[in-house]
Amino acid sequence: MNKEKVNRVVLVGTGAVGCSYAYSLINQGVAEELVLIDVNEAKAEGEAMDLNHGMPFAPSPVHVWSGSYQDCGSADLVVITAGLAQKPGETRLQLVEKNTKIFKEIVKNIMASGFDGIFLVATNPVDILTYVTWKESGLPKERVIGSGTVLDSARLRFALGQYFNVDTRNVHAAIIGEHGDTELPVWSHTMIGIEHLDTLLKRKEDFKKECLDDIFINVRDAAYQIIERKGATYYGIGMSLVRITKAILNNENSILTISAYLNGEYGQNDVYIGVPAKINRAGIQEIIEIELNDTEKEQFSHSIQVLKETMKSVI
Ligand code: NAD
Ligand code: LAC
Repeated sequence: MNKEKVNRVVLVGTGAVGCSYAYSLINQGVAEELVLIDVNEAKAEGEAMDLNHGMPFAPSPVHVWSGSYQDCGSADLVVITAGLAQKPGETRLQLVEKNTKIFKEIVKNIMASGFDGIFLVATNPVDILTYVTWKESGLPKERVIGSGTVLDSARLRFALGQYFNVDTRNVHAAIIGEHGDTELPVWSHTMIGIEHLDTLLKRKEDFKKECLDDIFINVRDAAYQIIERKGATYYGIGMSLVRITKAILNNENSILTISAYLNGEYGQNDVYIGVPAKINRAGIQEIIEIELNDTEKEQFSHSIQVLKETMKSVI
């Protein structure tokens, strides 16, 4: 009998982010198989048991088990959320050395299985760890993707939806650059519904351009605010990772601000950074080079400079 090809996702790291992703993936009925791996094997086992007990209520069956790196051999997608998270006050970039060390080991184990699918990385600092994954795996750059600024763009869309009292799904806005302190909003391409932000601000005088600066700062610093209150962020990133997973497995050609390797795009080279890109079953099908204004260009270059400087200690 011919076994039908099923989508297998392997999740490495069953901490807060990994489990939020797994829970969301199951609830959205995206993949048929989900393998959980963690250095803490008992944790991965317990999470698989718990998730399986919700299966009668899932939109479609998902075979979930705690596995080993050998299970990556036939995986379509490996999602890595393993490693250290920020403590209150700590920046993402401060995690670089410890998490690079963890990643080198994990990627080596995954590649030893014969894995030939797509990597999706979320661990921080995500742009640099995506670069490390690309370098260590030897896979084509199109098949190594970081979650980049998908979460930050979602935060901005939510905040603008609140400010303008519009459904967040009607807000078309993006954050690009480092997923971190040097990220930037692309105001020059922001649309509320089908109206350009600048036109809306002229039409409705109650809304003030100055408020947008505060909105951005709150978005940029959202993780610090959440970590201070509850120790970690995980639901937003879990759902962001599922959004990217759907774009890949369902061959959606979705445009998302993931972390991609720049090879001449935006006049930049040899760096992974958050940019709009078309995502499908092949991974990154195309990096979209939007026209940035002078301020945005300058901020984007600064973000790249900071990432490259930080990378020097680990690459
Ligand atoms: P967590 O401590 O809850 O979970 C981390 C898990 O990784 C643990 O279960 C741990 O056992 C496992 N782990 C550690 N070393 C491992 C190894 N060598 N092999 C396999 N598993 C290993 O942390 P968390 O809150 O889930 O955060 C995970 C990462 O995600 C952090 O780096 C955090 O900063 C990052 N994060 C990224 C975003 C984003 O937007 N990209 C958002 C939130 C968090
Ligand atoms: C975030 C993590 C901490 O929530 O990177 O933005």
